[in-house]
Amino acid sequence: MEKITEVMITREEIAEAVDRLGKQITKDYADKDLVVIGILKGASVFLADLIRKIEVPMILDFMQVSSYYNGTKSTGNVQIRKDVDNDIRGKDVLIVEDIIDSGVTMQCLIRELGAREPKSVKVVAAFDKPSRRKVDYSADYIGIEVPDEFIVGYGLDYAGKYRNLPDVCVLELDGGDK
Ligand code: IMP
Ligand code: MG
Repeated sequence: MEKITEVMITREEIAEAVDRLGKQITKDYADKDLVVIGILKGASVFLADLIRKIEVPMILDFMQVSSYYNGTKSTGNVQIRKDVDNDIRGKDVLIVEDIIDSGVTMQCLIRELGAREPKSVKVVAAFDKPSRRKVDYSADYIGIEVPDEFIVGYGLDYAGKYRNLPDVCVLELDGGDK
């Protein structure tokens, strides 16, 4: 069985990062036509906090995607399990994601959404694990950079569990596999 070993990021530290991101995004999107797209399910907790710190009009939408790729290939494909309801052509799209790990999911998703001719596409991620990158990608807005540990809480899961933990915790898996 897996077990929680320590708190990596407290709810207070997260709240501070969300505050900072909200202020920056509020500035940057003052005169834009903002469509926020939350990526289910992991970004749900972050999204709920973040949008209440963004003080400009927005349309809220959701997508659910899963990425699959073979380990040796640097680019993959993203399978859309739930698509947005809105036409994003000419809109300023802000994708809200839980964590950027290999970068594959986001790189594919940006390519997919870019083909729909939005005016702009940017990404805000609650957490970033740059040491795990498989593709050359970095998000436009990052909450907190994290080391190479498997983390859960604040929306992040292991096998569907732990999303409701208010702090981000390190999860140790049996046999040391990540
Ligand atoms: P990637 O950037 O394409 O490798 O995938 C990012 C996705 O992997 C995230 O949206 C998460 O669902 C998942 N993920 C990556 N690292 C972690 C972690 O430490 N804990 C929980 N989920 C993670
Ligand atoms: Mg996930």
